[in-house]
Amino acid sequence: MQRVAELAAAWAEAMGVPDNERHRWLRAVWLHDALRDAPAEELERWASSAPAPAGLKHGPAAAARAKADGEVDRGVLDAVRYHSVGLAEWDMVGRVLYAADFLEPGRPFEKEQRAELARRFPADSRAVLREVARRRLAHIVASGWPLLEPTVRFWNSLVSPSPSR
Ligand SMILES: [Fe+2]
Repeated sequence: MQRVAELAAAWAEAMGVPDNERHRWLRAVWLHDALRDAPAEELERWASSAPAPAGLKHGPAAAARAKADGEVDRGVLDAVRYHSVGLAEWDMVGRVLYAADFLEPGRPFEKEQRAELARRFPADSRAVLREVARRRLAHIVASGWPLLEPTVRFWNSLVSPSPSR
């Protein structure tokens, strides 16, 4: 989580975003995997209605707990809730978290390509986010796992020609 936070903070600096926006990014980073290693009963308590696959409960659970703890920022909550699957309606918080989580330097695979994408993010975040999603979705498909509906909509939002994004 420290490496994800450092990457997001570096992007915020390079992109010249205001302090309050940088703090939104960092809140999402610190919250997103807070329950990744929580016992099943705790995940169930916070996210009983979330999709069943074991690895997909900790985002919704962390968002529900953050909300109960007083987090009211919709962009931060959506970033945390959907960080494993993607969301078409994300603002920059969700987009930064999704990209930084994948591009942080501690992951063992494709180190040079991911470092290059991380360097490019501040200048070309839309293209880099699409590339990160392409790689993450390719991995899901190659693993034979189902693509959830929010993931499909997220991908389509990234590849549809829309001047507003
Ligand atoms: Fe996670």
